[in-house]
Amino acid sequence: MNIANIEDYRKLCEARLPRFLYDYISGGSYQENTLRANIAELQATLLRQRVMVDESHLNLSIDLWGQAMSLPIVLGPVGMAGMYSSRGEVKAANAAKAAGIPFTLSTMGVCDVHEVAQKTGIPPWFQLYMLKDRGFVKSVIERSVSAGSKVLVFTVDLATPGRRYSEVHDGMEKDPTFLGMLGFVAQGATHPRWALDIIMKGRPLKFGTVAEAMPKGVPYGKFVHDNFDASTTWKDIEWIRSIFPGKIILKGILDPEDAKRAVQTNIDGIVVSNHGGRQLDSVTSTIRALPKVVDAVQGSVPVFMDGGIRSGLDVLKALALGAKACFVGRAWAYALGAAGESGVRDMLEILKEELRVGMILTGCNDVNRATPDLLLKD
Ligand code: FNR
Repeated sequence: MNIANIEDYRKLCEARLPRFLYDYISGGSYQENTLRANIAELQATLLRQRVMVDESHLNLSIDLWGQAMSLPIVLGPVGMAGMYSSRGEVKAANAAKAAGIPFTLSTMGVCDVHEVAQKTGIPPWFQLYMLKDRGFVKSVIERSVSAGSKVLVFTVDLATPGRRYSEVHDGMEKDPTFLGMLGFVAQGATHPRWALDIIMKGRPLKFGTVAEAMPKGVPYGKFVHDNFDASTTWKDIEWIRSIFPGKIILKGILDPEDAKRAVQTNIDGIVVSNHGGRQLDSVTSTIRALPKVVDAVQGSVPVFMDGGIRSGLDVLKALALGAKACFVGRAWAYALGAAGESGVRDMLEILKEELRVGMILTGCNDVNRATPDLLLKD
């Protein structure tokens, strides 16, 4: 089948990856109300069609802190990507590089920050989770600095993990190999293409960044449950700032009051995010939260948005409501699981093309000039 859209990548990913990995990518927490709302409310946001506007010259690029980005899109942090495809973080980072956009490496990545920086020639943005062992967190931040990362994405909505039922069903909380060795081998036998790639070339069970802090034999879910730090407060931003000299973005803000507080602590950007509906369930969709956060920060810092982006038209809607750019999560995870690096490259081409069409037919010739006027208000 020829791939037409992100949904096709989702289906192909589902067919190619073992169940536990596909569930890990696609699932949300608890009853998945927020996961569904992110997508449904983006879909319900209507574009305003305009005709007969000269759209022969389009600008899809933005300037972020003096650096050009070819598209208003960032590959957001996604854990365990090196299990969807061997050295998956490097593959996705290569695709981002080819598209002229940033790649964000998760704390829970299989590849570590030096590997991504060396193999792609571009230091990735680095995503940080706060762990209880601050000495270890300090060493992780320092590692990202020594690899050349200029942007730290500090995720603040995972003080404790929300529960995803599919992961409990699949046994991911219980076993260090996720399924037990036998289960892993069985999955390999039934997904030979994945197994050949990942087991032969991938070193899939080693998490580069946290490997030293993750004792052998401790299941992934238990590690997160026991080591992530619920005592984190705004004060910790100062501490992070004392170690990381570059830009710091807070990811996981939904409330305008938190956004104001974030600006007061001198952060450099905000990602309006509910972790793709994977943390607290029944919170607002991000497209609904976005304009309130944009209003609260009054242009003092760039505001990004993620959650439910499955098309370039979704990107346009977020830009219209004040986002500087969108992070994507599952879209690239599905494409990587389905078709490796070429999948992620193609997925970005699809988003770009959809954004282009959306711009022309709404009469918007510059992504920097997207305003709420692009949307239908009724
Ligand atoms: C994530 N997300 C995430 N966020 C983060 O800060 N660190 C991480 O390690 C991860 N890991 C992760 C794994 C997987 C499989 C998914 C799907 C998501 C959240 C991610 O960065 C982003 O907020 C959401 O994915 C956005 O929603 P969509 O685009 O997936 O709908």
